[in-house]
Amino acid sequence: MEKTIIVSNRLPVDLKYNEGKLIVKSSTGGLATGMKSVHSEGNGIWIGWSGLTEEVISPEQKTEVNEALAKEKCVSVPLNQYDIDNYYYGFSNAALWPLFHYFQAYTEFELVHWQSYVEVNQKFADVVLEHLNEGDTVWIHDYQLLLLPELLRKKRKNITIGFFLHIPYPSYEIFRTCPWRDELLQGMLGADLIGFHTYDYVRHFISSVERLKDIEINFNEISYGNRIIKVDSFPMGIDYNKYHNAALEHHKYPESSKSELMKNIDFHNKSNEESKLILSIDRMDYTKGIPNRIKSFEYFLNKYPEYKGKVRLVMLAVPSRENVLQYQLLKKETDELVGRINGDLSTISWTPIWYFYRALPFDELIDLYVSSDVAMVTPVRDGMNLVAKEYIATRTKENGVLILSEMAGAAKEMHEALIVNPNNFDQTADCIKEALEMSAEEQKTRLEALQKRISRYDVERWAKEFLKGLKVAKNTVPVQI
Ligand code: G6P
Repeated sequence: MEKTIIVSNRLPVDLKYNEGKLIVKSSTGGLATGMKSVHSEGNGIWIGWSGLTEEVISPEQKTEVNEALAKEKCVSVPLNQYDIDNYYYGFSNAALWPLFHYFQAYTEFELVHWQSYVEVNQKFADVVLEHLNEGDTVWIHDYQLLLLPELLRKKRKNITIGFFLHIPYPSYEIFRTCPWRDELLQGMLGADLIGFHTYDYVRHFISSVERLKDIEINFNEISYGNRIIKVDSFPMGIDYNKYHNAALEHHKYPESSKSELMKNIDFHNKSNEESKLILSIDRMDYTKGIPNRIKSFEYFLNKYPEYKGKVRLVMLAVPSRENVLQYQLLKKETDELVGRINGDLSTISWTPIWYFYRALPFDELIDLYVSSDVAMVTPVRDGMNLVAKEYIATRTKENGVLILSEMAGAAKEMHEALIVNPNNFDQTADCIKEALEMSAEEQKTRLEALQKRISRYDVERWAKEFLKGLKVAKNTVPVQI
């Protein structure tokens, strides 16, 4: 029976050893949800890294891990510390991540990182090939595995390969700076369908192929060898019902079962009738524009001092890639900025910024989403940004305003948000004021349009559309002239 194999750097399962005991938690993240039906169908499997390096587990534990993963229909690609240092922290997160997000100054092109990236993509290919039969479909995800489509294509002709990039694809002028640009493109072109979040990324990719390879391109079809490769945009959605229903439940909580966080938010709201909360949620990543957001909030308070004492920025930054220098520097900068602004502006009864550097459980995330009058999603560059969509899904009372950066892929679909350039503090400050003062009627009109679109194009629909496109792409036969 033909099957679908999903491949991504991380598996949709979180594994940890706690005092010698293996703890297995299935991920409830967006990708895992979108893939649920594909993954659970027939004998479909998911291949990726378990999160545990070879050095930290004994041979017995390795067997235990593999058995636990098998129950979840997952197969692990064994990676060692060298791979993680060079392929993951190195080429993936110190070269491709900054480069594709237009952070050229942060980009490190190290030969050893590249060599490890090639080796690890081959390790992924070896594991996939062990499970792959003729006629199967493989769906590969993200920038850590750009070489994998071609590595599989070389070995098996009669398989269908889809590739989806979850981050931006940069303009040719940026991409061309990579010393291994030809190899990266060649790797991706092993796929039958290459998907991106937005049409702009599609254009940039096609332009790179046109300039670097002597290949015929017809709109979004690339004729390569005896194959046609399709390129298209598939904006990723969220599990809308999950967020919407959780928000509905939230409003039913009795006082006694509220979280500590929620009690504090209630206390803040009661302290001043005019009090308002502005929400900010991200992984702690330099692409997310966290310092800019803090500075524009400070700019706003100074430009419109009547809001001092009334408005708070609630900022959740989830730790990420803490071994990479740029992430450590960003954390330091953020700590210092928050400290300085709170030090300068706080009063006995008001702190302008509440800052949490940690991951919060889902229920508390919902507390934050539901309680916030405004959400500021202002990355300096972002492939899509699902936080913007999650905030919209939780607005069950038809109030709340989204301020969204024009640099996020989501801005291409969410026109009813207040769209800003995150580098323009003056414009952002005015948008914060506009959001805080927006009439109930206008909030409702904007939200209704956003909710209609985001609920219709949810993550399941995204996965289905991609797979439908993949089938069509595979069956497109090149025209013989
Ligand atoms: C982004 C990437 C994903 C990645 C995630 C978390 O969303 O597109 O591929 O898994 O960040 O980053 P991490 O490095 O912790 O996997």
